[in-house]
Amino acid sequence: MRKIAFGLTTVALSIAATTSHAGEVEVLHWWTSGGEAAAINVLKEEMKDAGHTWKDFAVAGGAGESAMTVLKSRAISGNPPASAQIKGPTIQEWGDLGFLTNLDSVAAAGKWDQVLPPVISETMKHDGHYVAAPVNVHRVNWMWANPEVFRKSGASIPTSWEQFIVEAQKIKDAGFTPLAHGGQAWQDATLFEAIALAKGSDFYKKAFIELSDETLRSQDMIDVFTTFKKMHDFVDPGFSGRDWNIATSMVINGEAAIQIMGDWAKGEFTAAGKQAGIDYVCFPAPGTSGTFTFNIDSLAMFQVDGDEAQKAQQDLTRLILEPNFQETFNLNKGSIPARLNMPRDKFDACAHSAMDAFLASSSTGDLVPSMAHGMAVNSMVQGAIYDVVTNFFNNESMQATEAVDKLARAVKASM
Ligand code: BGC
Repeated sequence: MRKIAFGLTTVALSIAATTSHAGEVEVLHWWTSGGEAAAINVLKEEMKDAGHTWKDFAVAGGAGESAMTVLKSRAISGNPPASAQIKGPTIQEWGDLGFLTNLDSVAAAGKWDQVLPPVISETMKHDGHYVAAPVNVHRVNWMWANPEVFRKSGASIPTSWEQFIVEAQKIKDAGFTPLAHGGQAWQDATLFEAIALAKGSDFYKKAFIELSDETLRSQDMIDVFTTFKKMHDFVDPGFSGRDWNIATSMVINGEAAIQIMGDWAKGEFTAAGKQAGIDYVCFPAPGTSGTFTFNIDSLAMFQVDGDEAQKAQQDLTRLILEPNFQETFNLNKGSIPARLNMPRDKFDACAHSAMDAFLASSSTGDLVPSMAHGMAVNSMVQGAIYDVVTNFFNNESMQATEAVDKLARAVKASM
């Protein structure tokens, strides 16, 4: 008996000796699809290699609505994780509540102010201090298409929403599902936002950043709702509640022609062994070629106690901005690195096009934050827009004129 106890003590001592600076880091995220899991695994492995313990806190659910609910309950009970996938204005909400930790020393050592474009570094700061680390930039206004389905249907890739309706009808007549879609509020909002973006960046900014009552009620917005409702004719009967990655798989396996989705969809094509330009093609969502709706994923860091936990959190923060992680994570995730001047050679044509569009749109004023992905407005306003958009899509009798009135009122009430 004594011998066994002695044996265990020896083992315990030797583990402690090899990992004296090792700490645990609990990370809350919603990256659970094939491409997403491959991406976050890169960070898990790097943390393990640095001698730390990764406690995975994955909460499934596209766009993170469920993850945010779970995070709030953990924070309210005084036990937030060390790190959580939080983005855009929501970082400010958590910062205002005093939960986040100052990352300035890691950021200074890694020269974050120099290696990040201002649109990203500003989003990562609260009151002028870094509190979150960016992993990527997703472009949201993308159209993913199966070229074989287009060929069999005699359809062309649409460059406007008017043309989309014409081509989608051909695809439907040929017996395919034109639009792979999942009826979840955030996916409805992603589609709606892409249609709105085709009205131009000025319209988009007035509607979803300035929240102008006049723009929300305008004829242009009525047109946007009308086109959006038309998309209902092109989804399959099973669309309701479908997860986004299941919709992507419909394009991958040739059941459907198109998905309008951010480039995390590319992560699914990659995970399925498909190649851009051969098995699938990527184009900006119709009418949005010069514009870029950005969605920056980031891990915000919460205050943690104890030297080891703090060291683990700092290592996590540092590793995220390292070129190696930025490259490997984004090759799996479908997005582009947040860090500037990264080598492009391992990235595919869709990523190159996103990189070019990101740079070009930053100087023309056509780089706009995604409303559907929590980059443009706070969570209250976003929730109000989601509700109107999704109710309208699922309510056959609601007119576009009624929808704009509901939208303007809901936005005003949530401001
Ligand atoms: C996130 C992506 C994620 C997608 C689907 C977006 O809001 O930014 O990282 O892959 O939701 O869950």
